[in-house]
Amino acid sequence: MRAVVLVGGFGTRLRPLTSSIPKPMLPVGHVPIIERLVANLARGGVVEVTLALGFKPEPFLEAFPDGHCAGVALHYAVEPEPLDTAGAIRFAADHAGIDDTFVVANGDVLTDLDVSAMVAFHRSRHAEATIHLIGVPDPSAFGVVALDADGRVERFIEKPAPGTAPSNLINAGTYVLEPSVLARIPVGQKVSIERATFPAIVADGGLFAMATDDYWLDTGRPEYYLEANIDIAAGRRRHDRCHPVHPDALVSPDAVITRSIVGPGATVAAGALVTDSVLLTGASVDTDAVVADSVVMGRVGAGAEVRHSVLGADGVVAPGEHVDGVKRPDPDAS
Ligand code: GTP
Repeated sequence: MRAVVLVGGFGTRLRPLTSSIPKPMLPVGHVPIIERLVANLARGGVVEVTLALGFKPEPFLEAFPDGHCAGVALHYAVEPEPLDTAGAIRFAADHAGIDDTFVVANGDVLTDLDVSAMVAFHRSRHAEATIHLIGVPDPSAFGVVALDADGRVERFIEKPAPGTAPSNLINAGTYVLEPSVLARIPVGQKVSIERATFPAIVADGGLFAMATDDYWLDTGRPEYYLEANIDIAAGRRRHDRCHPVHPDALVSPDAVITRSIVGPGATVAAGALVTDSVLLTGASVDTDAVVADSVVMGRVGAGAEVRHSVLGADGVVAPGEHVDGVKRPDPDAS
């Protein structure tokens, strides 16, 4: 089975982290999101992955120089301009010569979904396309479906107004597609699979969906990216584990680290307190500083306090400064 993984988005919501590293290359438990995602596809029988690249392709090429990721052969398709989700799938599938049933995954989704079970479901329904679904308390920020008893999608509504969703089952960002779906997508044009292609397949009765209660997280927002890291450290993933403090991190024996991930090369000085946070490579937390519920790539000065904040590679909190709910550098500043 072959797969296309969409990794060409701008990752706007994760700025300033994504100013230096594209979202799927950000680490979760010290391993890039894309590598954990591809490893799960491999467990489900995928043997070749085409990365649908656009924004910042270089870090992917550098990270996997031998063309393999998690033991799977990689193919790179770099769009000349962003083509949106369906346009990117068409471009990448044409590039790789895909002409059989294939899997598609959003490159920022972490899940323990059994992809082989989803392919079997897809085949049993003779579906043209099958979507993985997850139940969430508030579906209004997602694509929501209404299903019949056989799993056929009756309606697909992208981001319904609060209170109007027909179910709490959302598009979880993994699909099984027949090659006939590609013929529905015009070449070289910006097309959204959620807004254009899926509704067209629903109209022809060919869209099915399989709901599961597997671990699932869309890492696209800072609070979810943080949660994904803490989940892995806490052993909440079926297959993935990590040591919270990487052996190449420089942590003083007089610092206290609780429910947090500290990446290789990050430094934490004596007296510092780090809780429910992620310190990435390049982060430094100076003497007696406090970091809580935050993601840090930059520098936290001595005695500073950083809460509910995101510091990118150039983000600095001065010694003694207290911040809550900030992003530095400010991604909205021109
Ligand atoms: P935001 O800017 O924060 O919304 O993030 P994003 O750009 O990643 O967008 P979103 O999370 O909606 O995208 C879902 C998936 O599709 C992600 O894995 C993106 O990398 C990918 N994606 C979105 N647009 C494109 C595109 O034009 N081309 C390619 N190749 N991938 C895309």
